[in-house]
Amino acid sequence: MKAIVYTKYGPPEVLQLKEVAKPIPKDDEVLIKVQAVSVNRSDWEGLRGKPLYARIGGLLKPRRQILGSDVAGRVEMAGRNVRRFQPGDEVFGDILPRLGGFAEYVRARESALALKPASMTFEEAAAIPQAAVIALQGIRDKGRVQPGQKVLVNGAGGGAGTFAVQLAKLYGAEVTGVDNTGKLNFMRSLGADHVIDYTREDFTRDGKQYDLIFDVVAHRSIFAYKRALRSNGSYFLAGGSVATILQILLLGAWIRTTTGKEIRILAVQPNTEDVDYMKELIEAGKVTLVIDKTYPLSEVPEAIGYVGEGDARGKVVITV
Ligand SMILES: NC(=O)c1ccc[n+]([C@@H]2O[C@H](COP(=O)([O-])OP(=O)(O)OC[C@H]3O[C@@H](n4cnc5c(N)ncnc54)[C@H](OP(=O)(O)O)[C@@H]3O)[C@@H](O)[C@H]2O)c1
Repeated sequence: MKAIVYTKYGPPEVLQLKEVAKPIPKDDEVLIKVQAVSVNRSDWEGLRGKPLYARIGGLLKPRRQILGSDVAGRVEMAGRNVRRFQPGDEVFGDILPRLGGFAEYVRARESALALKPASMTFEEAAAIPQAAVIALQGIRDKGRVQPGQKVLVNGAGGGAGTFAVQLAKLYGAEVTGVDNTGKLNFMRSLGADHVIDYTREDFTRDGKQYDLIFDVVAHRSIFAYKRALRSNGSYFLAGGSVATILQILLLGAWIRTTTGKEIRILAVQPNTEDVDYMKELIEAGKVTLVIDKTYPLSEVPEAIGYVGEGDARGKVVITV
């Protein structure tokens, strides 16, 4: 089969379209003929090996040679312990940390997959799992957003942020979106009440405070986030620099005890219930799925570069 392969960390140029062996599913896995796979910042991070956590299991060279987590396709073959799916079923899901989606076929655990609704295209289905579940767990489960609360989403114009802004609005919050100059109108179109251009303003230094800050691109000191939180406010980091993650691990509990402000890391638990919940919100028109661009498999390097350089508004999808 054809796949986009890399053997060393680096820029998109290290990715190559190659012929590789078709995977063989284990007893609890299915083999999927991939129809679409979306690009996440986690692919960009895994490609470059930065931040350092992207090298877990592969310090000097990548542990998995094919990236791609959010797959949608048809079941081609089912392992003997698979109960929920059979050949021909249309499925989708997030297969992080195993990866392998930038290929014509991928094997995946049955437990990572949900049935694709007939009303959605493969491209639409592939755009949902990782980004939508990060946002849902940050805004609903950990953030427990209530009507009238002030919520700030940092990185609001990207994959997870696009869902996070809409979810916070859905739960009745007053939402501030932070992203680059080119995404200000886009964030407004998602429903953000206020927008901040991070290239001109630092939201931790303008005197405003929030009940919840949800951050997909954290790189500041923990004290900056503390300053921007109301008393009893919460901050959750979904993605960001290792320095910020370490500070939160070291000092988060102390800040909680001394100020009542909660500053934590969101460890996302991928699951199909959350994917189904988001799928229903999208089908009901309560959340809009935003696909910026689609690319063919051979152009995965361009697609990952587009997401990594921060140009994408919402999601980028590969049609296989
Ligand atoms: N916690 C977990 O368990 C877990 C699980 C899976 C994934 N993740 C992580 O979750 C994150 C999800 O990111 P995503 O896919 O939503 O990324 P994305 O689509 O690339 O969106 C990130 C957005 O942030 C913007 N941005 C960059 N620097 C910024 C800054 N300083 N201030 C404000 N905005 C900034 C980017 O635009 P520009 O770059 O153009 O400015 C982009 O619009 C990734 O880091 C991924 O590794 C976490």
